Amino acid sequence: MAISLCVALLTTVPLLWLVRETDGMPDPARRDLLMREETSRQTGGLLTLTAAEQKLDTRLHQLKEREMSAAQFPPAVHFFKVKTLIEKSPIFKLLQRMPKGAALHIHGSSVVGVEWLVKNVTHRPHCYICFTWDNSVRFLFSDRQPFPRWDCFYWQLLETLRAKIGDDAGFDNSLMQHLTLFTEDPDGEYPNQDVVWEKFEKAFIAAAGLITHAPVLRDYYRQALEELHKDNIMYLELRSGLSRTYELDGTIHDKTWTLNMFQEVTENFKRDHPDFLGARIIISVHRALSVSAVTAAVKEAIQLKMEFPDVVAGFDMVGRENDGRTLWYFREALSLPADIGASLPFFFHAGETDDEGTDVDQNILDALLFNTTRIGHGYALAHHPLAKELSRKRNVAVELCPISNQVLKLVSDLRNHPAAVLMSEGHPMVISSDDPSLFGTSGLSYDFYEAFVGIGGLKANLGTLKELALNSIRYSSLPAHLKDVGLTTWQNKWNAFVSENS
Ligand SMILES: *[C@@H]1O[C@H](CO)[C@@H](O)[C@H](O)[C@H]1NC(C)=O
Ligand SMILES: *[C@@H]1O[C@H](CO)[C@@H](O)[C@H](O)[C@H]1NC(C)=O
Ligand SMILES: [Zn+2]
Repeated sequence: MAISLCVALLTTVPLLWLVRETDGMPDPARRDLLMREETSRQTGGLLTLTAAEQKLDTRLHQLKEREMSAAQFPPAVHFFKVKTLIEKSPIFKLLQRMPKGAALHIHGSSVVGVEWLVKNVTHRPHCYICFTWDNSVRFLFSDRQPFPRWDCFYWQLLETLRAKIGDDAGFDNSLMQHLTLFTEDPDGEYPNQDVVWEKFEKAFIAAAGLITHAPVLRDYYRQALEELHKDNIMYLELRSGLSRTYELDGTIHDKTWTLNMFQEVTENFKRDHPDFLGARIIISVHRALSVSAVTAAVKEAIQLKMEFPDVVAGFDMVGRENDGRTLWYFREALSLPADIGASLPFFFHAGETDDEGTDVDQNILDALLFNTTRIGHGYALAHHPLAKELSRKRNVAVELCPISNQVLKLVSDLRNHPAAVLMSEGHPMVISSDDPSLFGTSGLSYDFYEAFVGIGGLKANLGTLKELALNSIRYSSLPAHLKDVGLTTWQNKWNAFVSENS
């Protein structure tokens, strides 16, 4: 059999060669058609651009070609090393001015730049600091000398310490180091995922003492909205654990206080900025907790969602997936809302891993089985064809956070990010920044830059950007009538942006 097949091939191949000599070249018209068809599948590929949009698109294309042929291509390099280079990019400057819609994946303790935390908050009176044995810091506001704690034996009043040290700018810089991952030498300081995650969790704990002081939290939220608005973002869904806040005398406020305060600050901000659509909270619980603690948290979230239907968007589980428990481990707690007929939409982090085939990797399918509204990261989604199909069919958008994935060491050259596949097939997707202050970014422009220039490459165009911004409103938790308001406001801003820049 094998031999006769070989003989057959040997005799037919030269024949084919002869026959196809004239039509061997693929038909150029068909090639054009296929290329256009493929482009139409990418994110924003079906949008028809106006004449002004086409003009801006041509400009963007030229700028991108220039950046791709430069000596250093920023998306191929660790963000910390090219941040200043990105800031000089004319594409980045355009993205800053672009109305980006909504920020749907940002964590509450990392939404305001550390600059403000250090320069403003640590300079306030009654702020104590303590240096821990593992080279971290804790902060506490108190109207008297705080008692020693297990992790903090000796509290010093910052005002006194500053006076003693003298070098205010230098000291502020050293404090900032504790509150962010940013460093000049990311590869040396963070050789692997474990090391970078350890520093990540430390920075969170260090910031907590500052942020959970009730008067600070109020200003912090206001500052967060200011920073987002300045980056041309009009709506926020913030993941927050709603940790208890404290007063100078040690009085503790509960979650209801925090939600009331959040609502009040948002309403005030909207009054000052009528183009701002609002902000909501996705209540987040750490995946290191026990089943009973998560069950209690789910029950509480159901209650809070009923009390604050316009503020609470839903529920999520946070913390490093590789170290924590899986969604399936919490299946009883997470089925509770459906079992009792309560409404608690899920916004699960899932697939923020490169460990294919593990229990953790399974989170992505489980998130979908629990009817998640969106998928946080979904880094592993491209490897799960069935989950990918489900997510597409149900319009469950992936929240892509490129810089986070790079800094936390899932991918080094962003051109190799698996979301390149998702973008090329127009998978439902939004761009977000996860923990902007920890990564030394602010708002969404930096992540838009990486997604647009690095992950999307030369074929991502103005239609891609437009679709991504539209998606952020489309896939938000807002009710339909507010989405309509948001889309109209956004479209006006977009038209102005296009005419000013084309
Ligand atoms: C800190 O910020 C608040 C508003 O958030 C402002 O009123 C205050 O003046 C600032 N303080 C310093 C020291 O910058
Ligand atoms: C998910 O949605 C399906 C279809 O609406 C429903 O039957 C199921 O109970 C939901 N499951 C959960 C866990 O919410
Ligand atoms: Zn996250």
